[in-house]
Amino acid sequence: MASIPLKKNKDKARAGSPGSFFSQWRMFFRQFVKHPGMIGSVIPSSATLVERMLDQVDWRNTRLFVEYGPGVGTFTRPILERLPADAMLLTIDLNLDFVAYLEAEIDDPRLRVVHGSAADVRRFIKEAGHYQADYVLSGIPFSTLPEGVGQAICVETQAALRPGGAFLIYQYSRFVRRFLTPVFGCVTDSLEWRNIPPCRIIRAIKQETLAQAA
Ligand SMILES: C[S@@+](CC[C@H](N)C(=O)[O-])C[C@H]1O[C@@H](n2cnc3c(N)ncnc32)[C@H](O)[C@@H]1O
Repeated sequence: MASIPLKKNKDKARAGSPGSFFSQWRMFFRQFVKHPGMIGSVIPSSATLVERMLDQVDWRNTRLFVEYGPGVGTFTRPILERLPADAMLLTIDLNLDFVAYLEAEIDDPRLRVVHGSAADVRRFIKEAGHYQADYVLSGIPFSTLPEGVGQAICVETQAALRPGGAFLIYQYSRFVRRFLTPVFGCVTDSLEWRNIPPCRIIRAIKQETLAQAA
């Protein structure tokens, strides 16, 4: 799996239609049919969900923002709109078609698109020239991941965050809380109805005391 940003496909980016709303939905649905367990959803997240998730972020003090499972970039574009000019967005996706799509669609020097598993987040952060992340946002469907993967991702994410940093998760169920509670001191969740289907917003903070013990 590549941890080096892929080359931009300028021809595809110029083709006009790929970035449209319908092409994103078509691409997303096609990938769901190919890999239902990995994608976990038939359609991308709603604008309301995106807004609520990103409202939790202290953008001014963000230097490294990590996104797991960007898919067609439903969160990636709004993150870049809010991200400071000198900050970096590192996206990690297991699906190579999504990685190629994102690379072709978004041309922003602050974006680094990586093909791989979120379980390797610490390696990808290091390769991107950073030490720790301020925020990690995840759209990964934890309840359909292979045995052990969800737990590994939560443990690695806790280690990858700076003290006080947050793991922000949108999810259709509370399943992931069983992996979060043992490694994060503080986990909260709420429901966003304006999404198909309604979605849980889960927030886990890396506490200073736990960070020192790690
Ligand atoms: C529900 S989709 C989220 C898509 C998009 N962020 C949205 O909100 O519409 C889940 C994404 O997680 C990715 N994924 C699944 N397992 C992963 C893993 N272990 N590491 C990184 N990405 C993963 C899938 O390829 C897919 O892009």
